[in-house]
Amino acid sequence: MARVGLREWLALAPVIASGRLARYNGSEGGPLAYFEAAFSDKFDVKHTLTTSNGTGALIAALVAAGIGPGDEVLVPAYTWIATAAAPLAVGAVPVIVDIDATLTISPSDILRKITPATRAIIPVHMANMACDMDAIMKIARDHGLIVIEDACQAVGVSYKGRRVGTIGDLGAFSFNQFKNISIGEGGAIVTNNDEYFARARMYHDIGAVFRGHLDNANMPPIPGINLKASQIQGAMLKVQLRKLDPMLRRMRERRAMMADIIARNPNFRVGPSHDPAGAAGLHAIFETQDDAMAFARAQKRGVQRIHDSSRHIFSFWQPILEQRPIHPKMNPYAWTERKVQYPPDMCAASLDILKRSCRISVGENYPQPLMRYLAHGMARWGNENPGLLRPSPGYRNS
Ligand SMILES: Cc1ncc(COP(=O)(O)O)c(C=O)c1O
Repeated sequence: MARVGLREWLALAPVIASGRLARYNGSEGGPLAYFEAAFSDKFDVKHTLTTSNGTGALIAALVAAGIGPGDEVLVPAYTWIATAAAPLAVGAVPVIVDIDATLTISPSDILRKITPATRAIIPVHMANMACDMDAIMKIARDHGLIVIEDACQAVGVSYKGRRVGTIGDLGAFSFNQFKNISIGEGGAIVTNNDEYFARARMYHDIGAVFRGHLDNANMPPIPGINLKASQIQGAMLKVQLRKLDPMLRRMRERRAMMADIIARNPNFRVGPSHDPAGAAGLHAIFETQDDAMAFARAQKRGVQRIHDSSRHIFSFWQPILEQRPIHPKMNPYAWTERKVQYPPDMCAASLDILKRSCRISVGENYPQPLMRYLAHGMARWGNENPGLLRPSPGYRNS
């Protein structure tokens, strides 16, 4: 994530001095409008709408695309719970799909999980790793599905030369404290579709039609909720956007250097990527979960077995797995044609991969020589201590 510092602090002063902290308070232009124009330009997308957070961006994107009761939405087994909770917020139901060794949604399991009620796919670019967007877009077009990319954890990352979030019908980003653009809380929706944009604007501003959200759109107004961002957020976003590409460059360089070094270790496999040239995230896959645990323990810093940070794994999404509605009469699971269920053995392949995988930090804010040193340590692991792990003949980094 990008560091927050003096520049953000200085950018806040004029906004505070102006007294115009809210978006539609005589400050319709201001930092938010500037940021949205700059973001659209950088990401090569027609519309950007800043929101109060990434969860709100996902919900507004689903509303914009007309997803609702009776609809099934495909989400991956490895993501923050917000991805799965967002469909429920619009009355639809999440259907959980396996990930593959790239740690992103498996196109072949998408095909298995499609039913007549499926309306949308939310591929998640987890931990700066791009999904297989060519395959996903083909499936979506073949089956008439809407694609809402969850790029919350991969702001600015590219897939075959295009920024993730801009490839599907809509994209959602998070700018919370831990993201590539980091302002505490914040988010955005992007789309090239004028109608989706108009509906998202209406929804994110409670249906305040007098603010001109539908000025050029030929559609009736819809009510919404308040997901607006403030000009305080806008001022920080302007600064952080300028830091984004230099930071991504540092991440890609370090990722390439570290992947190259650790690939020399025959005891595990560098996790595959759908676009190694654009990849900014790094992981390793072991033959057994014991090996993954031993590796994480030995490295001490910057390495975590994914299953040990369980918050992002479907098996820990208790409110969703238990299908508990916010009100007995507002229960999306009662509105589907078929009974959607979450059996315990669902997505066993994902659990297996996540138990055998470690995420490796590329240390974008640390000196490159330090990251090289750490990578060499990883490359040596297991060779110096052969007793630590079983031989794993199937895992050669050739
Ligand atoms: C994959 C993913 N989707 C959605 C979100 C939700 O974003 P926010 O925290 O800004 O609401 C997050 C945040 O952590 C996330 O990681």
